[in-house]
Amino acid sequence: MSIKAEEISALIKKQIENYQSEIEVSDVGTVIQVGDGIARAHGLDNVMAGELVEFSNGVMGLAQNLEENNVGIVILGPFKDIREGDEVRRTGRIMEVPVGEELIGRVVNPLGQPVDGLGPIETTKTRPIESPAPGVMDRKSVHEPLQTGIKAIDALIPIGRGQRELIIGDRQTGKTQIAIDTIINQKEENMICIYVAIGQKESTVRNVVETLRKHGALDYTIVVTASASQPAPLLYLAPYAGVSMGEYFMYQGKHVLIVYDDLSKQAAAYRELSLLLRRPPGREAFPGDVFYLHSRLLERAAKLSDAKGGGSLTALPFVETQAGDISAYIPTNVISITDGQIFLQSDLFFSGVRPAVNAGLSVSRVGGAAQIKAMKKVSGTLRLDLAAYRELEAFAQFGSDLDKATQAKLNRGMRTVEVLKQGINKPIPVEKQVMILYTLTKGFLDDIPVEDIRRFEEEFYAYLDQNEKELLEEIRSTGNLPEDEKMEKAIKGFKKTFAVSE
Ligand SMILES: Nc1ncnc2c1ncn2[C@@H]1O[C@H](COP(=O)(O)OP(=O)(O)OP(=O)(O)O)[C@@H](O)[C@H]1O
Ligand SMILES: [Mg+2]
Repeated sequence: MSIKAEEISALIKKQIENYQSEIEVSDVGTVIQVGDGIARAHGLDNVMAGELVEFSNGVMGLAQNLEENNVGIVILGPFKDIREGDEVRRTGRIMEVPVGEELIGRVVNPLGQPVDGLGPIETTKTRPIESPAPGVMDRKSVHEPLQTGIKAIDALIPIGRGQRELIIGDRQTGKTQIAIDTIINQKEENMICIYVAIGQKESTVRNVVETLRKHGALDYTIVVTASASQPAPLLYLAPYAGVSMGEYFMYQGKHVLIVYDDLSKQAAAYRELSLLLRRPPGREAFPGDVFYLHSRLLERAAKLSDAKGGGSLTALPFVETQAGDISAYIPTNVISITDGQIFLQSDLFFSGVRPAVNAGLSVSRVGGAAQIKAMKKVSGTLRLDLAAYRELEAFAQFGSDLDKATQAKLNRGMRTVEVLKQGINKPIPVEKQVMILYTLTKGFLDDIPVEDIRRFEEEFYAYLDQNEKELLEEIRSTGNLPEDEKMEKAIKGFKKTFAVSE
């Protein structure tokens, strides 16, 4: 039997023609309207929500609104040279970002492209930016501590690995500072940190990066930034890009901390593009699915089961409030999704109580299970002491007219507030936190004047480093509280050397 070349080539040609005509129907469309970073296209009948599409000039877009005879597309890039009548093609993929160790120490945009001027990122691995959260059976309860190095948080509102803890407060209340301190404190903890800056000024992000670099914290940190000048779609995508980079490490059994600074700006960006897409506005003009915007993001934080490698991804979403109103739409949504919130209050901040944590309105629903034993013991009564103090504070002006018990409570309260104050970029290791809190709760600070407390603390740490290395080591390695005798010996030894100011 002989084979005729023409027949075969005719057959192949026919096949190719048929194949293309199939695509024409559903995989290539035409732009019918374009403007404000949004395009509408006709003919993309099979496109899926969230699918990546490509315009004829190479710019990518995200298919969002699937309507009866057109598709609303968010344009991810310059849209000036996209015209009505241009072709737009399905890619069959959802958006992906590069992931891997190569990203560590870099500053990237939500598409994973470097913006730090340090050259290209050599990684071949990618992950889709949307992916299902680990299921119930793949998880384990939170049981390891994530030490922030901030006394007020580690003692009162402890965070566990795999937890989602909201940090909420007005503008300029020290929110970002909490992220910075926490990241700096992960130096010895084998934690990969991801800082997602959403809608911030470029200069602010730069300062954060420089601070991290100065403290050697950039060596284990990825910064994802979509600054205020970027188009809304990038702000909307930034947290998903960040969490995908984190998941890569989590599924390798590593521990990851991710900070979203902040989700209010992401929600505002999402509102902007939803309105442009002509979705019906709801409360505060947000679209109806703004809850899902945050729930699907935060559900991706997890502590994985041992069978899945035991990795964790801890999420610290930030939300900015207006005049301390935590009952607004976005704050209440995110409060209901997370495992607790740390509420920063501006009056506290301005009265010098920094970090300005409002202990009464802050909770951690799961972190307590992750505190080390020693910390649990020394911080047990702290919250009550503080609450009692806040109640009595108003009476403080009556001074010596008060009965002994009230006076004692006030004295202890003032010292507690003082001990929980902390400067910036100086996270304190847990063993030292245990030492100072033990000193406080056992009453060894009661005879130290309030104005000397912070100096007492500084000098106490230096003394411990010099003279009580084994004691610190014991707390660090066992997690248990050493015997009272040993603790008291250290405290009394230091108090002998401490000079109270005149
Ligand atoms: N514990 C602290 N002690 C002293 N100063 C602090 C402390 N925490 C924050 N600050 C200072 O307060 C200012 C505001 O802090 P930060 O930028 O963290 O607040 P923010 O809530 O993130 O503000 P924004 O709303 O602008 O993002 C900064 O100058 C910071 O250095
Ligand atoms: Mg900030």
